[in-house]
Amino acid sequence: MIIFILGTRPEIIKLAPVIRAAEAQGMPYSIIHTGQHYSPELDTVFFRQLNLPKPAYNLHAGSASHGVQTARMLERLDPLLHQVKPRAVIIQGDTNTVLAGALAAAKQHIPIAHVEAGLRSRDMRMPEEQNRIIADHLSTYLYPPTREAADNLTAEGITHQPDGKPERHVLITGNTIVDAVHQHLPLAREDEEAQRILKQHPRSLLLTLHRPENTDDPERLKAYLQAIASLAHQLTLSVLFPIHPRTEKTLHEHHISLPEHIIPLKPLPYLTFLNLLQHARLVLTDSGGVQEEACILQKPILTLRTSTERPETIRIGCNILTPQPSMLVKNAKRLLTSKPTAWENPYGDGRAGERIITHLKEVLFTSHRS
Ligand code: UD1
Ligand code: UDP
Repeated sequence: MIIFILGTRPEIIKLAPVIRAAEAQGMPYSIIHTGQHYSPELDTVFFRQLNLPKPAYNLHAGSASHGVQTARMLERLDPLLHQVKPRAVIIQGDTNTVLAGALAAAKQHIPIAHVEAGLRSRDMRMPEEQNRIIADHLSTYLYPPTREAADNLTAEGITHQPDGKPERHVLITGNTIVDAVHQHLPLAREDEEAQRILKQHPRSLLLTLHRPENTDDPERLKAYLQAIASLAHQLTLSVLFPIHPRTEKTLHEHHISLPEHIIPLKPLPYLTFLNLLQHARLVLTDSGGVQEEACILQKPILTLRTSTERPETIRIGCNILTPQPSMLVKNAKRLLTSKPTAWENPYGDGRAGERIITHLKEVLFTSHRS
């Protein structure tokens, strides 16, 4: 059997299509949840709404500093992998869960399949950049979403070597987020909570913020919120803001109240979020997954960061990096007047999950290899 190791909101969403493909293709599997995310609105709501099986194991790692959180997961994964002895583990993306999953498997010589391999922001201060580089270098089966991500792997010497030692497979699959968007959009259109919110705020921008670089610096967070409120005022729009717990903590601890026009919301279930995304005039975010989804849904994006590991969105012209709050209004207006009218989705055809499982079945379970 193979083991999916996951632990956070975006991993649940982006692995859902791979788990479904495993079901459809009769691939035996089990799920280990590290417990990195545990609040129901970041965790169980997605299993329920995406109709996923309950994880067989939960390691309850919880929140802590990066080092302690990763160490807890590693300590708990080690005996479990010894006991289960999977043929391979599947990890997705760049969280601390991914780092712990990769290290625990590598130490036991269990092959690692890395979904969404090869992304690079070239900012080594980001925990995600550290995690994805280590995970890629330890993986045997690498599934970059795009040619550019595959080229990043090649540049680091991680190449396709089906007959080499160690055997290494690199397969461009598209991003499983396209599968997730296609599979859920019809249901998202019916979402009643989103309809209720949009009835009150029919003209809206969608905002998400959760990166430490923005949320752990209250002055920077305040400056972004002021700039966003000013934009909303000028465009006579509301800003729908589902607030990540990390951000909520900073707002609370520093007594930051939201300026007018910014509508606070709890973290939203996936179908509600997708519906709001589809109706947004503009998306403001520091999220990786939200940049991709907005691009897939033909929405203009301001990325509130200094770098992005989604460079294709910048090249298309639908995304502008906006690292300074003082640039936000100008960039938004520029984007709204000059963005291309339509663009090709660079993230694939929505069959990434199927491709990954077909490939893994071939390399792990066909008779000439077992
Ligand atoms: C993590 C990932 C990030 C990913 C994000 C998705 C790392 C290094 N970061 O960031 O790459 O984009 O998940 O959302 O792995 N908290 C809760 N409930 C929870 C989980 C967290 O209230 O269920 C609060 C805690 O106060 C915690 C803080 O949020 O300290 C941050 O959680 P953590 O998992 O450390 O990082 P994220 O910011 O969620
Ligand atoms: N998302 C959601 N509800 C929200 C905010 C985000 O369902 O309130 C989804 C969003 O559609 C995307 C994923 O969560 O698929 C992105 O997660 P996040 O921004 O937490 O992490 P990142 O992608 O930056 O790692």
